[in-house]
Amino acid sequence: MAPDKENDGKFTSRLERSNSYSTLWGNRANLQSSRCIHYNAQQRRFDLLCRTCQYSFRVDEHGWLEHQYWGVRLQPDDDLDFLHHTNVAQPFDPIPEKTERFKPHLAVASDILKRQSNDSNRNTWKAATMMQRHHYNEEASRLENACWRLLAMKQRRKEKECAETDSPHTCSEHISIPVTEEDRALLFEEAIRALMTDNQDTVLKAQAANKEHFDVREEADKRHEREMSRIPPGLERVGKNTKLLEFSDYGTGDYRIPSFNVTYGDGSNISPLHYKAHRITLGVVPMDCSMPIVGDELSVQSDASALIVTLADPFTDLEVDLHYAVFQDLDVIVRRTVIRNKSPAGGVTVQKIASATVDFESDHYHFLHLPGEYTAERQVVYQPIVEGYRGVDSRRGTSSHQHNPFAVISRGDTPPEESRGEVFGFALVYSGNHRIEIEKTETGRVRFNIGINPDHFSWSLASGCSLEAPECIMAYSNEGLTYMSQQLHKLIRSHVIPQEFRGNWVCPILLNTWEALYFDQTHDNIMSIAKEAKDIGVELLVMDDGWYGQRNNDKTSLGDWDVDLKKLPNGLKALVDEVNGLGLKFGIWVEPEMISVESKLYEANPEWALGQSGKSRSEGRNQLVLDFTRKDVRDYIYGKLEAILNSANIEYVKWDCNRHLTEVYSRQLPPYRQGEVFHRYALGVYEVFQRVRTNFPHIIVETCAGGGGRFDVAMLKYGPQIWASDNTDGLARIRIQYGTSMAYPISSIGSHISSVPNHQTFRRTPLKTRFVVALCGTFGYELDLTKEVTPKEKEQLKAMNRLRTRLAPIIFHGDFYRLWNPFCSTNNVAAWMFVSPNRLKALVFAFVTFKKTLGRYLPRLRLRGLDPHQKYVVSELVPTTIRRITSVQFAEDQDRPVYQFGKKTLEISGLALLNVGLPIKLEFDGDAMLMELTAMSAHTTTCAMTPSASFVDPKAHPESPLSLSPIQPPTHQHEMAMTMLEPPPDEVPRSISHRRII
Ligand code: GLA
Repeated sequence: MAPDKENDGKFTSRLERSNSYSTLWGNRANLQSSRCIHYNAQQRRFDLLCRTCQYSFRVDEHGWLEHQYWGVRLQPDDDLDFLHHTNVAQPFDPIPEKTERFKPHLAVASDILKRQSNDSNRNTWKAATMMQRHHYNEEASRLENACWRLLAMKQRRKEKECAETDSPHTCSEHISIPVTEEDRALLFEEAIRALMTDNQDTVLKAQAANKEHFDVREEADKRHEREMSRIPPGLERVGKNTKLLEFSDYGTGDYRIPSFNVTYGDGSNISPLHYKAHRITLGVVPMDCSMPIVGDELSVQSDASALIVTLADPFTDLEVDLHYAVFQDLDVIVRRTVIRNKSPAGGVTVQKIASATVDFESDHYHFLHLPGEYTAERQVVYQPIVEGYRGVDSRRGTSSHQHNPFAVISRGDTPPEESRGEVFGFALVYSGNHRIEIEKTETGRVRFNIGINPDHFSWSLASGCSLEAPECIMAYSNEGLTYMSQQLHKLIRSHVIPQEFRGNWVCPILLNTWEALYFDQTHDNIMSIAKEAKDIGVELLVMDDGWYGQRNNDKTSLGDWDVDLKKLPNGLKALVDEVNGLGLKFGIWVEPEMISVESKLYEANPEWALGQSGKSRSEGRNQLVLDFTRKDVRDYIYGKLEAILNSANIEYVKWDCNRHLTEVYSRQLPPYRQGEVFHRYALGVYEVFQRVRTNFPHIIVETCAGGGGRFDVAMLKYGPQIWASDNTDGLARIRIQYGTSMAYPISSIGSHISSVPNHQTFRRTPLKTRFVVALCGTFGYELDLTKEVTPKEKEQLKAMNRLRTRLAPIIFHGDFYRLWNPFCSTNNVAAWMFVSPNRLKALVFAFVTFKKTLGRYLPRLRLRGLDPHQKYVVSELVPTTIRRITSVQFAEDQDRPVYQFGKKTLEISGLALLNVGLPIKLEFDGDAMLMELTAMSAHTTTCAMTPSASFVDPKAHPESPLSLSPIQPPTHQHEMAMTMLEPPPDEVPRSISHRRII
């Protein structure tokens, strides 16, 4: 049986930080509105105001949250109330019965009154009148009217009493409206009784008789007539199915895919939700469970505001909190959901919980997503959204190679474009099973849900417990996909990756020993590679799989995290010290979530693996998965990690996860909690990650899952980079990295130069192209420098490292623009570029994978993001050496640079580059082009980075080359690289069969 704490519906772990979280959150002041979140009490509308966009919804006359708008920012006084005219009642759409309509209203009115209770009488009355004007529901208006009148009467009564008994001074204090909670509750009850009973006139008049003669009935009737005359017939009664909703419940009239689903003890799963209250606050709101969130939980960020709207089921005391966080200066909103069982009566089982639901108005839309497979992750696919249901998801326990938890909805009947059109991007901050759901209904409206996959999921919520759904980042752009991606990149770089790796930080150039040594990770092998690595300018040496237990192949030792002294006879520390002695940092590979059957750990604790005893289990890569829902397992594994990380100066960890989950059953959880295992597994993984981060904050964590099988925003909370794919073939990587860039910053994409022929595809891609592709990511190596590199190539690698160091800041922190899409290119080309924030510097990359025909020209490459008023020096870096002898159609390696324009540099205006474009000649399969653009007004200083630019201390170098202006024209450093990349004439025979170098 699991410890109580694990069974209470919240997950155990808040770690040591839990107290500080709650204190922090508890101390935050409630705001009426923040800079980014406005609440309009008169219209009951919430406006979330981003950099250029706005997201609006309102509490409607039923107390439902009606989504109104997500698009460009409107004027502050733009009233969106006219939007209810788009709701057309349909004969088959159920509407709530009369009595139900009153109940939510109590909550709505109560909340509004609470918020305004310190205001003057006159203002509250004004607010009530406005509400009546804006909300055409007749009963609701009457109820409100009655509330206010009763309140006013009560207050006057008080004032009178006061005048009779108190001094004028004391009396004035009674004039403002505050009445006690109790008073308020009584008032509403009175009002409701009055309106809902047959003798309402009598009750109200009896009340009114004391003071003034309000004929509520008569006035309400008149108003009703007035309102009915201005509302077209049929509009006054629309049900949920007709509305755009913020969150949709099950079984109460909305036939679309619901946002959540619960089952009560009595077997019912009907849960009507109505607005209850809301809260606006500065900073982001921490979670109670161990899931990662966007933003910093530990400090109140002044550039973020949060809104929490509580919906409640008045019959069952189930509550749902909708969380919205808005980040100033970005066009993103981060949403999540919390379900709370407040009923003392008993437990509830949650079967589905979406992190966000967005209903789109009736229009044409496209759906873009990133499906893939092992070694071909995150390929870009899009299709029109047509009537019916469409879902993509993972049921594998990780976010998966197959379906990344990211999606885009674009408006229009043509596919999404990079530079124009409205697009809505969604990135789930979750590494477990996810589902993205899209449904286009008969109305033409489109529902989008994203959250935990409801398949194989259920969560038992005891009384008083809650369940938190992961966060979803929602990015808006009305300038196409590029701007959406840039917003996501910026958010992730500034609010997700650990603080230590933000700002000017650039990851060190690393060499990973996997493809060089596989399981032969011995001290001597590693040291020989390390020496060569140091020589060419590598900064970090990473020892991959094979250093522990008896890990001589993939059948054994996972879980036995003790150094194999046969391979490292002097131990880990001696190796690390020796590597450090060369001037290199040291990194290590681990796979903490896994266990080999052939291991000491399994011998001792077979029940620690997921699966049911007595039943067979499937192996993946000859291994089982540890039950990370168990605290004892997590503690044990963390203890081993801690010991390794404390034992030597380890500055980088590659955290792998080489199989998906099967036979998902925890022997420690009771039967009714087995539906929780997938999610609890993800929470358990996060907990261990967080412990590593908290205790070893300086360590660069690169996550990995059989390559890019867990590339998601949540993973980036624990480390700045993720290994993008086990496919290290440069040409295959073009598509993988292009697709990945849709959601994730280039700085997070693990990319290495590997040897030829490539170990996965057996393709021989020119070194130049492998370099240029790897440059567009974290950059490193995955080859045996002692065997697979000629002396000449070694010199080229040195030059490449120098060039990478110089260019890395713009690649890591510049704005990324996709230019040619490899997924829809008839020419098999791809292109993209980076532009520094001051637009004085840019890098342009273009690639061709396979030329279908020799004769077809490429289009001119129109650049983006440049300053049209600037003149740029366009310099070609790493030119090819292959030339076509036209008369005989013979291609040969000429051992000297063959420049795209016949010469190394051109001067072209920004305006021409944007509108005319660069003529590109990529004539040979696997060729690539890299241009550096420097604005002519940006001469002098500082593009030349110090050789160890990787760990630039922002204090030591306050002027990042990106944030400042003048950048030196491409001379010294890149000249060097160019020279090094150009093979001396006598070394390469003039034969097309010797193209392997460049
Ligand atoms: C996974 C990773 C590889 C390597 C191996 C080691 O496949 O993606 O990079 O670390 O595991 O087993």
